[in-house]
Parts: sequence; C-alpha cells; structure tokens
Amino acid sequence: MRFEIVTLFPELFDGLRTGLLGKAQEAGVIDIQAITPREFTSDRHRTVDDAPYGGGSGMVLMPGPIVETLDHLDEARGGKPTHRLLLTPQGARFSQAHARRFSELDSLTLVCGRYEGFDERIRGLVDEEVSLGDFVLLGGEAAALAVIEATARLLPGVLGNEESAADESHADGLLEYPQYTRPEEFRGERVPDILRSGNHAAIARWRRKESLRRTLERRPDLLETAALTDEDHKLLDEIRAER
Ligand SMILES: C[S@@+](CC[C@H](N)C(=O)[O-])C[C@H]1O[C@@H](n2cnc3c(N)ncnc32)[C@H](O)[C@@H]1O
Repeated sequence: MRFEIVTLFPELFDGLRTGLLGKAQEAGVIDIQAITPREFTSDRHRTVDDAPYGGGSGMVLMPGPIVETLDHLDEARGGKPTHRLLLTPQGARFSQAHARRFSELDSLTLVCGRYEGFDERIRGLVDEEVSLGDFVLLGGEAAALAVIEATARLLPGVLGNEESAADESHADGLLEYPQYTRPEEFRGERVPDILRSGNHAAIARWRRKESLRRTLERRPDLLETAALTDEDHKLLDEIRAER
C-alpha cells in the first residue's frame, strides 16, 4: 500500500524508516512518500501561505501549491486512484473502523494543514476529513502519523504475528483483556493462576470475560455496538453479579 503525505515538514516522517514500518518499507509491503507543496511554488520565497481574507491572526495555506502537489502525486502514481484524506479537528473522529477501511486501499493521500489551517477550497480536493480527537495540534502531521500506523499495522506482512492485530482492543469492538508476562509475582501482585493452568478453554473464557469486564468498566458505550453472543451476555450477567 502506498501512503502519500502532503506536508510542509516531510522530515517529521523520517522516523517511519525505523521499527516495523521501516521493515515493511524494505520488504515492499508499504511505500511512504512525504512531499512538500513548497516544491510546487514559483516565487523566490516558495510561498505556500498567506494572510486570511477579512483579517485575523495567523496564516492560511493557499490552495494553489496543494493542487499542484496533488496533481504531481497523481502523475507519479501513473493515474492510479487514491483516497484523499484531510487531517482537521473539524473532521470525523478517527477510529479503528477507518483504519480497517483504509487498509483495503492501494493508496492513501494525507493532506496536513499548518498555522491557522487551510483555504476552504482545499476541502473540495479531498474525499474525506478526519480528526484525531477534540483538541488542536500545531499541524496535521501527528494525526497523519497516527492514521498511517493504525492502517499499516493491519496490512498482511507488517506485524510479525497476524494474531496480534485480531485479538486486541477495538478489533472486535471491545477493549483487550489484561496481559501479563514474567515475573510470576511483582511487588506482591501475582499473575492470575488460570493463565498458568495450561487449560486453553478456561484461559479463553477468562480472557473474554475480562475483556467484557474492562469494556463495561471503562467504555460501556462500546458494548452498545459490539457484536455480542449469548455467551457474552451470560458473562456480562456474571460480572454485574460480582460487582
Ligand atoms: C492549528 S490547526 C488549525 C485549526 C483551525 N484553525 C480550526 O480551528 O479548525 C493547524 C492544522 O493542524 C491540523 N490539526 C489540528 N488539530 C487536529 C486534530 N485534532 N486532528 C487532525 N488534524 C489536526 C489540521 O491539519 C489543521 O489545519
């Protein structure tokens, strides 16, 4: 899968050359291209922003250099389609469902705003707008990094163990069960006996119950949309009776 990032600060994405995403790029599973609209300006100062019409503080990204960058990327892709995403606090809140949907694409183009934001006409150039959450960042880059990581790790061949993406928080609409590793006892807290029992069926049941318990305690809203079985409802009744 190809990730294209339109950003005033391509160097912020250099970190993606390390770790699992670095390996995935070396293996050709993903390709990440960060490109600055400054390359597509014609003036001496490589101007990409200007003061807002009507006055007010800060600078606003101009549409021209962004269009030129998107056209260049289309050409470099040989006209193959992409899905264009604008990172903005005014977009839909990014979720695992977005990441799953994006991981089905061949190409995702992420457009990052900066300063006071971007000219309204840039909105017409994209397919979708997403926000990382109800807070304001300096620019779209941190949000783009989050979208790339969450999407890329769902692609076959990116995670060492395909199981780990299937099992964790939000994969099936629930939060993940508690995890333990060595030592068996740490500062008086012991690993639950059942996890050392070797009884796989009992461990699976415990994990499902703890996943439901954690979701009920921390994110009860998720239970309204999670696909729950009759057995899950029985486990939830048990948890409520234990409270
Ligand atoms: C300082 S913000 C501009 C905010 C803009 N004036 C507004 O009120 O919507 C600069 C850029 O950071 C990015 N950004 C800020 N917060 C974000 C968030 N929560 N999610 C995604 N992108 C964000 C956007 O690309 C935005 O254009």
